[in-house]
Amino acid sequence: MNMIEPFTTMLDLAAGGLVPERKLVERTLGDMQGMYAAAVPAERLAEVVYRVSEIPAPLDEGNLLSSTTTIEPGTVDGEYHMTKGHFHAKIDRAEIYVTLAGEGRLVMATEAGEPAVEPMVRGSVNYVPGGWAHRSVNVGSGPLVFFAAFPADAGYDYKTIEDEGFPVLVVERDGAPQVVSNPRYGG
Ligand code: PA5
Ligand code: MN
Repeated sequence: MNMIEPFTTMLDLAAGGLVPERKLVERTLGDMQGMYAAAVPAERLAEVVYRVSEIPAPLDEGNLLSSTTTIEPGTVDGEYHMTKGHFHAKIDRAEIYVTLAGEGRLVMATEAGEPAVEPMVRGSVNYVPGGWAHRSVNVGSGPLVFFAAFPADAGYDYKTIEDEGFPVLVVERDGAPQVVSNPRYGG
């Protein structure tokens, strides 16, 4: 067993930042090109749409990774701002999401194409079972902030979602979120 020393991180519950900040990933709309149903307009490519701050740990079995994600509000042609979404590389690894601020939808799907959508509100604890790809979507008017914890050996498989997308999309219809089927999925 790889022993490490205990440590503590402070979490800004409203904005999602960590102190000390150890690893910060920023994703722009340019990084998300091809993931929204509509093309991202050229003038929005540099816009940061979400930030992930990670609390690092050794990546071997038995450790836990955790992170906060902050997704800015907005849409791309009516489709709400969202994360890329992924399966875990070790596909049976589960995850817990705790929402700290804002309002969202947690969109999930199995490899067989079964979709699931769960609410994200301050205080919700979403259980993402192994085998389910997951993407979070900000449907509110302010930032969506959540904390995630998962096995450190889980890894990420982004390619399946980049290639196939999710079976459902979350779009704004008459000012409210609506889940619609993804016309490009499974085609
Ligand atoms: O562990 C998770 O599932 C989250 O921390 C996500 O990695 C984070 O929300 C960003 O999403 P993605 O990794 O799909 O870009
Ligand atoms: Mn995950």
